[in-house]
Amino acid sequence: MLLEDFGQRVDLTRRIREVLANYPEGTTALRELIQNADDAGASRVRLCLDLRAHGASSLLAPALAQWQGPALLAHNDAAFTDDDFASISRIGGSKKASQAWKTSRFGVGFNSVYHLTNLPSFVSGKYVVMFDPQGTYLPNVSAQILESA
Ligand SMILES: Nc1ncnc2c1ncn2[C@@H]1O[C@H](COP(=O)(O)OP(=O)(O)OP(=O)(O)O)[C@@H](O)[C@H]1O
Ligand SMILES: [Mg+2]
Repeated sequence: MLLEDFGQRVDLTRRIREVLANYPEGTTALRELIQNADDAGASRVRLCLDLRAHGASSLLAPALAQWQGPALLAHNDAAFTDDDFASISRIGGSKKASQAWKTSRFGVGFNSVYHLTNLPSFVSGKYVVMFDPQGTYLPNVSAQILESA
């Protein structure tokens, strides 16, 4: 008998498009960022429209130059846990569902930021994370196929 790896998969950019269809443009993404900060236990959230443009001489890849500003910055005073890093990397894979006091429900809200950018990035603890679902801007990244959530 031949055993094959056969499972359901979903195209990442298609999945993001579905999420965006459910999250109207406008202030929704900001609300989702504030909600996530609250769920993470933050006591303070700051949003900043940063109109500066930064230099492009020491980037990971030349294609990142267009993301050197202007930018919307969102800061809160909580930190990602290991579970948070795992959850945000799996669309629909939130572990918060079992934590009743949190606002989250679907594990997708963060992805509303794709209304604003193709390359959302964040810093927490010792990590800088950049999501490049189209595999366009970061070096050595290909458009990924995610397991269906
Ligand atoms: N600012 C943040 N601080 C810490 N963890 C975060 C933050 N933003 C997102 N996360 C992690 O990423 C996960 C996914 O966030 P996302 O907003 O997509 O879904 P959710 O908050 O779980 O549910 P909902 O779809 O209702 O927003 C969160 O469950 C959390 O673990
Ligand atoms: Mg959320």
